[in-house]
Amino acid sequence: MNLILLGAPGAGKGTQAEVISNTLNIPQISTGNILRAAVKNGTECGLKAKSFMDAGALVPDEVVIGILKDRIAEDDCKNGFILDGFPRTVPQAEALEDMGVQIDKVIEISVPDEDIKARLGGRRVCESCGATYHIEFNPPKVEGKCDKCGGNAVQRKDDAPETVIDRLKTYHEATAPLVDFYKGKGKLTTVYGQSEVSETSKLVLEAVNA
Ligand code: AP5
Repeated sequence: MNLILLGAPGAGKGTQAEVISNTLNIPQISTGNILRAAVKNGTECGLKAKSFMDAGALVPDEVVIGILKDRIAEDDCKNGFILDGFPRTVPQAEALEDMGVQIDKVIEISVPDEDIKARLGGRRVCESCGATYHIEFNPPKVEGKCDKCGGNAVQRKDDAPETVIDRLKTYHEATAPLVDFYKGKGKLTTVYGQSEVSETSKLVLEAVNA
Protein backbone atom coordinates (compact mmCIF):
# COMPACT_ATOMS: atom_id res chain seq x y z
CA MET A 1 0.00 0.00 0.00
CA ASN A 2 1.31 3.48 -0.90
CA LEU A 3 0.23 6.09 1.63
CA ILE A 4 0.69 9.81 2.17
CA LEU A 5 0.45 11.52 5.56
CA LEU A 6 -0.49 15.16 5.25
CA GLY A 7 -0.56 17.74 8.01
CA ALA A 8 0.95 20.88 9.44
CA PRO A 9 4.43 20.81 10.99
CA GLY A 10 4.07 19.08 14.35
CA ALA A 11 0.68 17.53 13.56
CA GLY A 12 2.18 14.15 14.40
CA LYS A 13 3.01 12.86 10.91
CA GLY A 14 6.35 11.39 11.99
CA THR A 15 4.86 9.81 15.12
CA GLN A 16 1.99 8.22 13.19
CA ALA A 17 4.10 7.24 10.18
CA GLU A 18 6.24 5.15 12.54
CA VAL A 19 3.13 3.41 13.91
CA ILE A 20 1.87 2.58 10.40
CA SER A 21 5.34 1.47 9.32
CA ASN A 22 5.57 -0.98 12.23
CA THR A 23 2.00 -2.21 11.73
CA LEU A 24 2.09 -2.72 7.95
CA ASN A 25 5.81 -3.45 7.72
CA ILE A 26 6.40 -0.86 5.02
CA PRO A 27 9.07 1.87 5.16
CA GLN A 28 8.44 5.38 6.43
CA ILE A 29 9.93 7.92 4.06
CA SER A 30 10.44 11.28 5.74
CA THR A 31 11.92 13.89 3.43
CA GLY A 32 12.65 16.00 6.52
CA ASN A 33 14.76 13.19 8.03
CA ILE A 34 16.56 12.58 4.72
CA LEU A 35 17.33 16.31 4.38
CA ARG A 36 18.52 16.60 8.00
CA ALA A 37 20.87 13.65 7.43
CA ALA A 38 22.18 15.34 4.27
CA VAL A 39 22.81 18.57 6.22
CA LYS A 40 24.58 16.64 8.99
CA ASN A 41 26.77 14.82 6.45
CA GLY A 42 27.55 18.04 4.57
CA THR A 43 26.50 16.64 1.18
CA GLU A 44 25.87 18.94 -1.80
CA CYS A 45 22.11 18.49 -1.35
CA GLY A 46 22.46 19.24 2.37
CA LEU A 47 24.36 22.45 1.64
CA LYS A 48 21.56 23.56 -0.70
CA ALA A 49 18.83 22.69 1.82
CA LYS A 50 20.24 24.04 5.10
CA SER A 51 19.36 27.74 4.86
CA PHE A 52 15.79 26.98 3.74
CA MET A 53 15.26 24.52 6.58
CA ASP A 54 16.73 26.76 9.27
CA ALA A 55 14.38 29.56 8.15
CA GLY A 56 11.31 27.28 8.20
CA ALA A 57 10.92 27.61 4.42
CA LEU A 58 10.48 24.81 1.89
CA VAL A 59 13.50 23.38 0.11
CA PRO A 60 13.12 23.93 -3.68
CA ASP A 61 10.86 21.38 -5.38
CA GLU A 62 13.54 20.08 -7.78
CA VAL A 63 15.87 19.15 -4.90
CA VAL A 64 13.19 17.29 -2.91
CA ILE A 65 11.63 15.59 -5.94
CA GLY A 66 15.07 14.20 -6.89
CA ILE A 67 15.59 12.84 -3.36
CA LEU A 68 12.16 11.22 -3.29
CA LYS A 69 12.55 9.63 -6.70
CA ASP A 70 15.82 7.97 -5.66
CA ARG A 71 14.38 6.78 -2.35
CA ILE A 72 11.24 5.11 -3.70
CA ALA A 73 13.32 3.30 -6.30
CA GLU A 74 15.02 1.37 -3.47
CA ASP A 75 14.21 -2.29 -2.94
CA ASP A 76 12.40 -1.95 0.39
CA CYS A 77 9.68 0.17 -1.27
CA LYS A 78 8.47 -2.52 -3.64
CA ASN A 79 5.59 -3.58 -1.33
CA GLY A 80 4.58 -0.03 -0.47
CA PHE A 81 5.63 2.96 1.61
CA ILE A 82 4.39 5.85 3.73
CA LEU A 83 5.35 9.32 2.63
CA ASP A 84 5.81 11.62 5.65
CA GLY A 85 6.40 15.23 4.58
CA PHE A 86 6.10 14.71 0.82
CA PRO A 87 4.42 16.06 -1.23
CA ARG A 88 4.35 19.54 0.28
CA THR A 89 3.37 21.53 -2.81
CA VAL A 90 1.04 20.86 -5.74
CA PRO A 91 4.03 20.59 -8.16
CA GLN A 92 5.49 17.87 -5.88
CA ALA A 93 2.18 15.96 -5.99
CA GLU A 94 2.12 16.31 -9.78
CA ALA A 95 5.72 15.05 -9.97
CA LEU A 96 4.64 11.94 -8.07
CA GLU A 97 1.94 11.33 -10.67
CA ASP A 98 4.44 11.94 -13.49
CA MET A 99 6.66 9.22 -11.95
CA GLY A 100 3.70 6.83 -12.32
CA VAL A 101 3.36 6.32 -8.55
CA GLN A 102 -0.13 5.12 -7.55
CA ILE A 103 -1.22 6.50 -4.20
CA ASP A 104 -3.83 4.39 -2.39
CA LYS A 105 -4.75 6.69 0.48
CA VAL A 106 -3.93 10.14 1.81
CA ILE A 107 -4.48 10.71 5.52
CA GLU A 108 -4.58 14.27 6.76
CA ILE A 109 -3.88 14.77 10.45
CA SER A 110 -5.64 17.97 11.45
CA VAL A 111 -4.46 19.87 14.55
CA PRO A 112 -5.18 23.53 15.48
CA ASP A 113 -2.24 25.94 15.11
CA GLU A 114 -2.25 26.78 18.84
CA ASP A 115 -1.75 23.10 19.78
CA ILE A 116 1.03 22.84 17.17
CA LYS A 117 2.94 25.69 18.79
CA ALA A 118 2.77 23.95 22.20
CA ARG A 119 3.83 20.60 20.74
CA LEU A 120 6.81 21.88 18.78
CA GLY A 121 8.03 24.13 21.60
CA GLY A 122 8.35 21.05 23.82
CA ARG A 123 9.62 18.60 21.23
CA ARG A 124 13.05 17.06 21.67
CA VAL A 125 14.72 14.88 19.03
CA CYS A 126 17.57 12.41 19.48
CA GLU A 127 20.65 13.65 17.62
CA SER A 128 21.76 10.06 17.01
CA CYS A 129 18.69 7.98 16.10
CA GLY A 130 16.00 10.62 15.46
CA ALA A 131 13.53 9.35 18.11
CA THR A 132 11.10 12.12 19.15
CA TYR A 133 9.97 13.13 22.62
CA HIS A 134 7.97 15.91 24.22
CA ILE A 135 9.13 17.38 27.51
CA GLU A 136 5.57 17.33 28.88
CA PHE A 137 3.51 14.76 26.88
CA ASN A 138 6.16 12.10 26.21
CA PRO A 139 9.36 12.84 28.15
CA PRO A 140 12.43 10.60 27.93
CA LYS A 141 13.10 8.64 31.14
CA VAL A 142 16.31 10.62 31.74
CA GLU A 143 16.05 14.31 30.86
CA GLY A 144 17.95 15.15 27.64
CA LYS A 145 18.81 11.49 26.90
CA CYS A 146 17.21 9.20 24.33
CA ASP A 147 15.49 6.10 25.81
CA LYS A 148 16.30 4.05 22.70
CA CYS A 149 20.03 4.73 22.16
CA GLY A 150 21.22 7.04 24.97
CA GLY A 151 22.00 9.86 22.50
CA ASN A 152 21.32 13.53 23.27
CA ALA A 153 17.65 14.58 22.93
CA VAL A 154 17.77 18.23 21.82
CA GLN A 155 15.50 20.93 20.39
CA ARG A 156 15.51 21.19 16.58
CA LYS A 157 16.69 24.58 15.34
CA ASP A 158 13.46 25.08 13.38
CA ASP A 159 11.36 24.40 16.50
CA ALA A 160 12.27 27.86 17.85
CA PRO A 161 8.91 29.69 18.40
CA GLU A 162 9.46 32.39 15.72
CA THR A 163 10.45 29.75 13.14
CA VAL A 164 7.39 27.65 13.99
CA ILE A 165 5.20 30.65 13.07
CA ASP A 166 6.94 30.83 9.67
CA ARG A 167 6.56 27.07 9.14
CA LEU A 168 2.84 27.27 9.85
CA LYS A 169 2.46 30.16 7.40
CA THR A 170 4.31 28.15 4.75
CA TYR A 171 2.07 25.17 5.47
CA HIS A 172 -1.16 27.14 5.03
CA GLU A 173 0.07 28.80 1.81
CA ALA A 174 1.88 25.98 0.02
CA THR A 175 0.82 22.63 1.49
CA ALA A 176 -2.80 23.00 2.63
CA PRO A 177 -4.00 23.19 -1.04
CA LEU A 178 -3.07 19.49 -1.25
CA VAL A 179 -6.07 18.70 0.94
CA ASP A 180 -8.41 19.76 -1.88
CA PHE A 181 -6.07 18.24 -4.50
CA TYR A 182 -6.45 14.76 -2.97
CA LYS A 183 -10.08 15.27 -1.90
CA GLY A 184 -10.85 15.88 -5.57
CA LYS A 185 -9.31 12.49 -6.38
CA GLY A 186 -11.39 10.74 -3.69
CA LYS A 187 -8.29 9.66 -1.76
CA LEU A 188 -8.40 11.87 1.32
CA THR A 189 -9.43 10.97 4.88
CA THR A 190 -9.11 13.56 7.63
CA VAL A 191 -8.25 12.41 11.13
CA TYR A 192 -8.45 14.92 13.99
CA GLY A 193 -5.29 14.72 16.12
CA GLN A 194 -6.17 13.79 19.72
CA SER A 195 -4.36 14.81 22.88
CA GLU A 196 -3.28 11.16 23.39
CA VAL A 197 -0.89 9.82 20.73
CA SER A 198 -2.44 6.32 21.02
CA GLU A 199 -5.93 7.73 20.36
CA THR A 200 -4.71 9.38 17.16
CA SER A 201 -2.97 6.14 16.16
CA LYS A 202 -6.24 4.24 16.54
CA LEU A 203 -8.03 6.69 14.22
CA VAL A 204 -5.16 6.69 11.73
CA LEU A 205 -5.06 2.88 11.56
CA GLU A 206 -8.85 2.78 11.11
CA ALA A 207 -8.46 5.18 8.17
CA VAL A 208 -5.66 3.06 6.68
CA ASN A 209 -7.74 -0.13 6.96
CA ALA A 210 -11.06 1.41 5.81
P1 AP5 B 1 9.87 17.83 8.43
O1 AP5 B 1 10.85 17.10 9.23
O2 AP5 B 1 8.96 17.07 7.52
O3 AP5 B 1 9.08 18.75 9.42
P2 AP5 B 1 7.53 19.06 9.57
O4 AP5 B 1 6.51 18.74 8.58
O5 AP5 B 1 7.61 20.49 9.90
O6 AP5 B 1 7.11 18.01 10.53
P3 AP5 B 1 7.64 17.73 11.93
O7 AP5 B 1 8.68 16.69 11.89
O8 AP5 B 1 8.04 19.02 12.63
O9 AP5 B 1 6.32 17.27 12.65
P4 AP5 B 1 5.46 15.95 12.54
O10 AP5 B 1 4.13 16.27 11.91
O11 AP5 B 1 6.24 14.81 11.97
O12 AP5 B 1 5.16 15.76 14.07
P5 AP5 B 1 5.82 14.79 15.15
O13 AP5 B 1 5.27 13.42 15.01
O14 AP5 B 1 7.29 14.96 15.21
O15 AP5 B 1 10.59 18.94 7.51
C1 AP5 B 1 11.57 19.83 8.03
C2 AP5 B 1 11.98 20.80 6.95
O16 AP5 B 1 12.54 20.08 5.81
C3 AP5 B 1 10.85 21.63 6.34
O17 AP5 B 1 10.55 22.78 7.09
C4 AP5 B 1 11.44 21.96 4.94
O18 AP5 B 1 12.38 22.99 5.02
C5 AP5 B 1 12.17 20.68 4.58
N1 AP5 B 1 11.33 19.73 3.81
C6 AP5 B 1 10.96 18.48 4.18
N2 AP5 B 1 10.19 17.91 3.24
C7 AP5 B 1 10.07 18.83 2.24
C8 AP5 B 1 9.37 18.83 1.00
N3 AP5 B 1 8.64 17.79 0.60
N4 AP5 B 1 9.46 19.95 0.24
C9 AP5 B 1 10.20 21.01 0.60
N5 AP5 B 1 10.87 21.07 1.77
C10 AP5 B 1 10.81 19.98 2.59
O19 AP5 B 1 5.15 15.42 16.46
C11 AP5 B 1 5.46 16.72 16.91
C12 AP5 B 1 5.49 16.78 18.43
O20 AP5 B 1 4.19 16.60 18.96
C13 AP5 B 1 6.35 15.72 19.11
O21 AP5 B 1 6.96 16.28 20.21
C14 AP5 B 1 5.37 14.64 19.53
O22 AP5 B 1 5.82 13.94 20.67
C15 AP5 B 1 4.15 15.47 19.84
N6 AP5 B 1 2.91 14.80 19.54
C16 AP5 B 1 2.63 14.05 18.45
N7 AP5 B 1 1.36 13.59 18.52
C17 AP5 B 1 0.84 14.10 19.67
C18 AP5 B 1 -0.41 13.99 20.32
N8 AP5 B 1 -1.41 13.29 19.79
N9 AP5 B 1 -0.59 14.66 21.47
C19 AP5 B 1 0.42 15.37 22.01
N10 AP5 B 1 1.63 15.48 21.48
C20 AP5 B 1 1.84 14.86 20.32
